[in-house]
Amino acid sequence: MLTLKKDIIIAIDGYSSCGKSTLAKSLAGILKYTYIDSGAMYRAVTLYGLRNNYVRTGFVDTDKMIQNISNVKIEFRLNEETLRNELWLNGENVEDEIRGMEVANNVSPVSTIAEVRKRMVFLQQEMGKNKSIVMDGRDIGTVVFPEAELKFFVTADVDVRAQRRYKEFKEKNIPITIEEIKENIGQRDHIDATRKESPLRRAEDAVILDNSNLSREGQLEWAINYIKEHFSS
Ligand code: DC
Repeated sequence: MLTLKKDIIIAIDGYSSCGKSTLAKSLAGILKYTYIDSGAMYRAVTLYGLRNNYVRTGFVDTDKMIQNISNVKIEFRLNEETLRNELWLNGENVEDEIRGMEVANNVSPVSTIAEVRKRMVFLQQEMGKNKSIVMDGRDIGTVVFPEAELKFFVTADVDVRAQRRYKEFKEKNIPITIEEIKENIGQRDHIDATRKESPLRRAEDAVILDNSNLSREGQLEWAINYIKEHFSS
């Protein structure tokens, strides 16, 4: 375990599928901090929309999403076996379902809706009230926690990202081509970085971490060294 001089908030932002959550989970484990995957929250809202027909491929009924956003109850509950936080939507564990391609293909348009963002940011800020949290996403260092003590901005080459995601899908026996993954990543990057509401961008005080040529372990080691240097007691 690594002990810091004081409790801090660690904000990790970056493009889709570039290893933010892997890094965030590991750091939270080492620091004994809470890990919050903010993308899972937008994915859960999207699943809610898909199930209620407010979202279909290429279409989002923005008014219906806004009218019903207060009916979307999101909780993270600890899985005692894996010791990971899992997402529950209105009392149902949807951790696996929100990782599928149907949600991945529709989540970016849903997350452009200002009212959806406002609600998620409120919930995220509540979770960070006591600090000791690692949160990853797109706007954590810029909008959710602009005062976070430590901000990482993670990037990686798009081909490297697609290869990594392809391997994960293959391990789960999900049939998909690398081209489909690349297209999804490219589309999400584009929508996330160009949307009007809280676009993905690096906070001025965020440290850039390009992990194209780093293994998971290499990336973690780099981040731990950075933390030791700046925050360790
Ligand atoms: O991190 P992820 O790929 O699971 O996120 C899914 C989508 O949610 C992503 O394409 C954009 C959106 N998102 C967002 O707009 N703001 C965040 N803080 C996190 C995710």
